[in-house]
Amino acid sequence: MGKKTVKDIDVKNKKVLVRCDFNVPYDENRVITDNRRIVAALPTIKYLIENNCKVILCSHLGRPKGEVKPEFSLDIVAKELSKLLGQEVKLASDVVGESAHKLTSEMKEGEVVLLENVRFEAGEEKNDPELSKKLAEMAEVYVNDAFGTAHRAHSSTTGVADYLPAVSGFLIEKELEFLGNAIQNAQKPFVAIIGGKKVSDKIGPIENLLTKVDTVLIGGAMAYTFLKAMGYNVGDSFCEEDKLDLANEIMEKAKNNGVKLLLPVDTKIGKEFDPNTESKIVKCTEIPDGWEGFDIGDETIKLYSEELRKAKTIIWMGPLGLFEFDQFAIGTNSIAKVLADVDAVKVVGGGDSAAAIEKIGLSNKFTHISTGGSASLEFIEGKKLPGIEALQDK
Ligand code: ADP
Ligand code: 3PG
Ligand code: MG
Repeated sequence: MGKKTVKDIDVKNKKVLVRCDFNVPYDENRVITDNRRIVAALPTIKYLIENNCKVILCSHLGRPKGEVKPEFSLDIVAKELSKLLGQEVKLASDVVGESAHKLTSEMKEGEVVLLENVRFEAGEEKNDPELSKKLAEMAEVYVNDAFGTAHRAHSSTTGVADYLPAVSGFLIEKELEFLGNAIQNAQKPFVAIIGGKKVSDKIGPIENLLTKVDTVLIGGAMAYTFLKAMGYNVGDSFCEEDKLDLANEIMEKAKNNGVKLLLPVDTKIGKEFDPNTESKIVKCTEIPDGWEGFDIGDETIKLYSEELRKAKTIIWMGPLGLFEFDQFAIGTNSIAKVLADVDAVKVVGGGDSAAAIEKIGLSNKFTHISTGGSASLEFIEGKKLPGIEALQDK
């Protein structure tokens, strides 16, 4: 059973509180460096504007931990949103205080007000009913479109749903469709690419995927934990020594489930953690001491590409190397380029994988790139997300 969306209830002319995830990265000059989460929220906001709603937006930014800290102000988001919408988005200087009340009571139909960072309120992360009630009092309907924060049970993501009719926006609908359907009703062959830093971060999603996929391609730093578990020397590569048994269990489970699990056969190693460090490609069975594996090598790229070209469904979580350094971004970028031309359902979860694909401008070649980092991993793991559970069933 799905969750109701803004289209399943009457929102016309109503005052609507919309929880978005505007937790975007920004630099030391407070310039937003990636606006994808804001762009992804536009369809719901525009729909509500078209339906003559008074649109009250709320979000967190960073982790101000219940205190008002100007460096975490949503002013940068209000500006970006005004530009993207082509209409003014007024920013309240508080969350449920005088400013919020004044702006939201004076607003006209079709106008948009953004409340200040909801984590300036100590009650937010405690899911305090008092704060939930105050948020609810400002509106007639609650819409959650903050997929990236759906794994948090906070006042603005769950508590407020106790006091208002609560439905999802189009972003959450889309995330559920692709992350849910892509996995539950996957067309075969179904291939998962699992990379990133740690085995321990991805264990939940891996275990769930092992019951569904045909093939798993392992990359990123976590590959060295698997290689070490198999008894190979990994030099100074990042390795979770206490997860060797876990890696062995995963390989055993894959075998028992008839899942083909591939590890890199070659790797690009570097002398130091430095963008310009000396580097070379070696076989994974021959990583010398004093060197660290930072990327998959050409043979592995070839091997993985062959598997991916046969796939009908692909899920990708975690970059295949240290993509922030150009010389170790080749594995991730090459696989992204191969995927761009593969005719399959292609879904990306995990924050850094999405960033890596965005960095080389290939986002539009994917079926869906999740706006949720941890939320997408928890969802793929099969966990129930509180921000979604709180919404009305269809
Ligand atoms: P995601 O956010 O997509 O789930 P993770 O957070 O698990 O991915 O991992 C991403 C990080 O892992 C990136 O910062 C990347 O540089 C790092 N990484 C990937 N491969 C390596 C490697 N071989 N050595 C060191 N760091 C790596
Ligand atoms: C995210 O960026 O993962 C979400 O916005 C949630 O943020 P949080 O980890 O601070 O709760
Ligand atoms: Mg990450």
